[in-house]
Amino acid sequence: MPARPFVSDSPAGRIRIKRIYRAARVSDGKRILVDRLWPRGVAKDRARLFDWCKDIAPSDTLRHWFHANPDQWQDFVTRYRAELATREDLVRELAGYAQGDIVTLLYASKDEEHNNAIVLRDCLRQWLEREGKMTDRPNDEPLRTPLCDLLGCEVPILLAGMGGVSRWELAAAVADAGGYGMLGMVREPIDLITREVTAMRAATDRPFAVNLIPAATDPQLLEAQIACCLDLGVPAFCFFWDVMPDVVARVKDAGCLVLHQVGTEAAARLAEKAGADVIIAQGIEAGGHVHGRSPAFGLAERILAGTGLPVVVSGGIATGEGLAAAMAVGASGVQCGTAFLATEESFAHSYHKSRIVEATGEDTVLTDVFVLNWPKGAAVRVIGNSVTEGLKGHYLGHDPDSLPRETIAHDDDQPRLRFSTDSPLRTTTGDLEAMALYAGQGAGNIPDIVPAAARLNAMVAQARHILKGPVRNGFEAMS
Ligand SMILES: Cc1cc2nc3c(=O)[nH]c(=O)nc-3n(C[C@H](O)[C@H](O)[C@H](O)COP(=O)(O)O)c2cc1C
Repeated sequence: MPARPFVSDSPAGRIRIKRIYRAARVSDGKRILVDRLWPRGVAKDRARLFDWCKDIAPSDTLRHWFHANPDQWQDFVTRYRAELATREDLVRELAGYAQGDIVTLLYASKDEEHNNAIVLRDCLRQWLEREGKMTDRPNDEPLRTPLCDLLGCEVPILLAGMGGVSRWELAAAVADAGGYGMLGMVREPIDLITREVTAMRAATDRPFAVNLIPAATDPQLLEAQIACCLDLGVPAFCFFWDVMPDVVARVKDAGCLVLHQVGTEAAARLAEKAGADVIIAQGIEAGGHVHGRSPAFGLAERILAGTGLPVVVSGGIATGEGLAAAMAVGASGVQCGTAFLATEESFAHSYHKSRIVEATGEDTVLTDVFVLNWPKGAAVRVIGNSVTEGLKGHYLGHDPDSLPRETIAHDDDQPRLRFSTDSPLRTTTGDLEAMALYAGQGAGNIPDIVPAAARLNAMVAQARHILKGPVRNGFEAMS
């Protein structure tokens, strides 16, 4: 099913105005400068303009006469409207941009109540209404954020690229249900990546990303993984853990989209500087490796305050309430790991899935004891088991060099060590209980193992219900 363009039918929603000095956001849609002069101090690459329509601005004579004097506002409106009436071709062109998208008209004036963009916005709205191109029907798809257009999905729910677990079957199921699929390929060999990407393409024509963790991968293997993905025409990458600017630059230069998961504001800034297109704010509630120590929503809000990039909330989210909450704080979507691990299509072992269904959020612990083959000090969130019980509350501060090497399971013919970061997969045999049973604090909200589409659809239905319900209508009534 091809992605549908995002159209808000609310007249107030589709054409917006904004001072160009405010942070650019993906939710601005098409950013169009409508001043005749370039705004002082604004760098061209930071302005993120879709177009600069200088000829639609007030004439120099009118601009000099008005001189941003509020006392002359009504006269200015009349005169500028008269000028616009003589430039109907430009008005039509600009209105055309708003027919399939949000348009934000940008201006430099300090006066946010008396400026040319206000007049132009009202004029464009009237033009669209007159031409029957705008209705009063409220936006019936509150979940369709501009991130969906960027990624090519229907709803802003991203499958976390879980190593071992997010293979093509799960990624394709999430993508076909309207979410965004990611293949978890951390430290996987080239032949597996090739098989997975090929199988993903055969299963769905939806766009997807490959997840890699540069800081936890041998540089030679990482280089080969990236080269392999680029050769296969992978359209997007999702990176995690320490930001490696040269790695981001490499895939950006190849024309790929970059999502970067981070656990701190500093890492978010680094990722943006390196060229990332989307920031995933991972909170301490998350299952698997946990980079920062902040709750997900607080972190996402702080990152949102400092960036114009789309921000996705990750960690502990397994319900439509979490998704609706992410929308409410201005995030562009959510990323879910645990909620999709416990589905039919995931490559996790059924033992791991059933432990998640049985667990409550309080059954998880943050520990760095599952650390063999990862950098020292890397913490993970897991369901408590015989290994974490043995720690007697001392979950953090373990030195990998002092941990014994003891094989407790096998994946095909590969040995799996106690204290390693490997989690039990479909192909694993042995002492599964003692392995890393990754799960986020949302585990308590996962009652059963269902197809991934069912999990996603339930989240979507619940979030839509909340966002279109009385609370939202109350906000609308107030505005
Ligand atoms: C089993 C499992 C494996 C994970 N593996 C990776 C990985 O390889 N790369 C990555 O970026 N994140 C990985 N994560 C973390 C996720 O990206 C994400 O932050 C986390 O799943 C969000 O929290 P949630 O599980 O509560 O939804 C993993 C998480 C889990 C549960």
